[in-house]
Amino acid sequence: MVLQKEPAGAVLWGYKDSAAAIMMFLYRENHLVWKVVSEEEGRSEIWKIVLNPMPAGGPYEIVIWHQDNGEMTNVTLEDVYFGDVWLCSGQSNMEMTVSQIFNASEELEEASQFPLVRLFTASLVQSKRELHDLSGITLQWSIPTAKNLGHGDFSYFSAVCWLFGRYLFKTLKYPIGLVESCWGGTPIEAWSSKRVLHECGIFNTTEGASSSYLDSGPKDPSVLWNAMIHPLLNMTIQGVIWYQGEANTVMNTDLYNCTFPALIEDWRKAFFEGSHGETEQDFPFGFVQISTDRQMQLDDSFPRIRWHQTADYGYVPNQKMPNTFMAVAMDLCDDESPYGSIHPRDKQSVAHRLYLGALALAYGKKGATFQGPYPEKVELVAASGLLNVIFGEHIELRHSDNKTFEVCCAQQKQCQWVPAAIASSSFDTVTLHNLACPKSTLGLRYAWMEWPCKYKHCPVYSRHSSLPAPPFITFSHNNPGWVLS
Ligand SMILES: *[C@@H]1O[C@H](CO)[C@@H](O)[C@H](O)[C@H]1NC(C)=O
Ligand SMILES: *[C@@H]1O[C@H](CO)[C@@H](O)[C@H](O)[C@H]1NC(C)=O
Ligand SMILES: *[C@@H]1O[C@H](CO)[C@@H](O)[C@H](O)[C@H]1NC(C)=O
Ligand SMILES: *[C@@H]1O[C@H](CO)[C@@H](O)[C@H](O)[C@H]1NC(C)=O
Ligand SMILES: *[C@@H]1O[C@H](CO)[C@@H](O)[C@H](O)[C@H]1NC(C)=O
Ligand SMILES: *[C@@H]1O[C@H](CO)[C@@H](O)[C@H](O)[C@H]1NC(C)=O
Repeated sequence: MVLQKEPAGAVLWGYKDSAAAIMMFLYRENHLVWKVVSEEEGRSEIWKIVLNPMPAGGPYEIVIWHQDNGEMTNVTLEDVYFGDVWLCSGQSNMEMTVSQIFNASEELEEASQFPLVRLFTASLVQSKRELHDLSGITLQWSIPTAKNLGHGDFSYFSAVCWLFGRYLFKTLKYPIGLVESCWGGTPIEAWSSKRVLHECGIFNTTEGASSSYLDSGPKDPSVLWNAMIHPLLNMTIQGVIWYQGEANTVMNTDLYNCTFPALIEDWRKAFFEGSHGETEQDFPFGFVQISTDRQMQLDDSFPRIRWHQTADYGYVPNQKMPNTFMAVAMDLCDDESPYGSIHPRDKQSVAHRLYLGALALAYGKKGATFQGPYPEKVELVAASGLLNVIFGEHIELRHSDNKTFEVCCAQQKQCQWVPAAIASSSFDTVTLHNLACPKSTLGLRYAWMEWPCKYKHCPVYSRHSSLPAPPFITFSHNNPGWVLS
């Protein structure tokens, strides 16, 4: 296994006979490195030990003695390393295994070259009350082999989680522990504690909601928080990555701007408390902005969820979502996926975009780019009927069309969205033909569609990092970024 390295202390815990004493010994190459007596007062049936912060590396052996009236039993953990532990959660796009993605056979074959990335998968269990222990483990701590990574469809091991960990390992060159706890077809409500749901005004059960997006997994409030997250809280972790949101395109869609930021805050507080303060209170939280499903779009629930995933800011981190990072995925569409287009097979790009976010936020890499271009200014040139969208950086216009940008024309105090063709682009600016309502443009939106472009061919990318601009929506009223000229 991999336990969290310094500056945090890893936490180990377990059960015991109430009168028993617990001692722990940490060995490296048969030399005792550290020993400790558990300090649990009185007749407790739970023990918990916070290890001294350990540098990255290993292997270590941990022996735990259980002494009760002179009778001794022990447990030995072998092949233990210290490194960074990441928790990977969400729904089926997180669950999708390495054998289901592009270049699966190469990825599986290469996996055994990374024996210091270790894997663990929690079983799919739901519960009506908070559990203190996982009631099932699908993959006990393991090394990455073709078998462990490619065990059937949507089982184990998560491709996004694996590739993210592998990218981190290649850069950091120390052990990485990956804990998978996810379930396909599940809404955020199932992963949220009562605190989150109450904060967002969700008091009722969700029975009744039905759609193919919710077919496979449990949808009742808190049932996965209870069974698949709560039991992990005592573990010291470095951070979380999350790929979920599709199920909420058909359930409580417009509450996601509350539930998602609230879930992040709640998980942070709970892991901090559960680990006695060893897991950082504001640990880095990365997520994937949902990809694409239907080319013939029926409603705008996908763009709304993408927007709400950023707490309606359009980018992260922001004031409501500090220390978060996002992988944009709306341009990674895959209409030929044998698992349905809702499950795109390019998980390498998803994981790489997450990895860039982690480098910048979790590992403080100076100057690391991890966000795509975002507009700083919208300039209406009424006389010429043009509109300039000015980005904060050098852009690449990879595709020019007449529908991805739309302007809002005032119509009886409502927005009438009209496509605005791209006229030209320069260093940091895209110029649009704004002919529908040059004098009364109230808003502008970009890629506000379920399936905005062909694979990796949305209009705007960063010249420097090749990252796509995320979808955005902006209105002229009270917005200093809008200028008339
Ligand atoms: C652990 O327990 C076994 C059997 O009870 C014993 O043989 C062994 O010496 C113990 N190991 C340690 C390190 O105490
Ligand atoms: C809960 O459900 C009941 C009955 O369906 C409904 O009357 C009530 O408004 C709901 N409450 C909330 C907060 O949604
Ligand atoms: C979330 O979005 C909905 C729909 O746009 C809006 O009515 C609501 O005020 C937003 N809630 C928060 C907390 O921003
Ligand atoms: C683990 O964390 C949970 C949640 O904070 C807490 O209720 C529980 O007592 C902790 N378990 C141990 C063994 O300390
Ligand atoms: C698959 O492998 C080919 C050849 O190495 C490479 O060009 C391509 O980018 C890979 N696809 C993905 C999604 O990583
Ligand atoms: C938009 O572009 C397509 C092809 O690029 C063209 O067929 C269509 O007529 C254009 N529509 C408008 C409104 O300019």
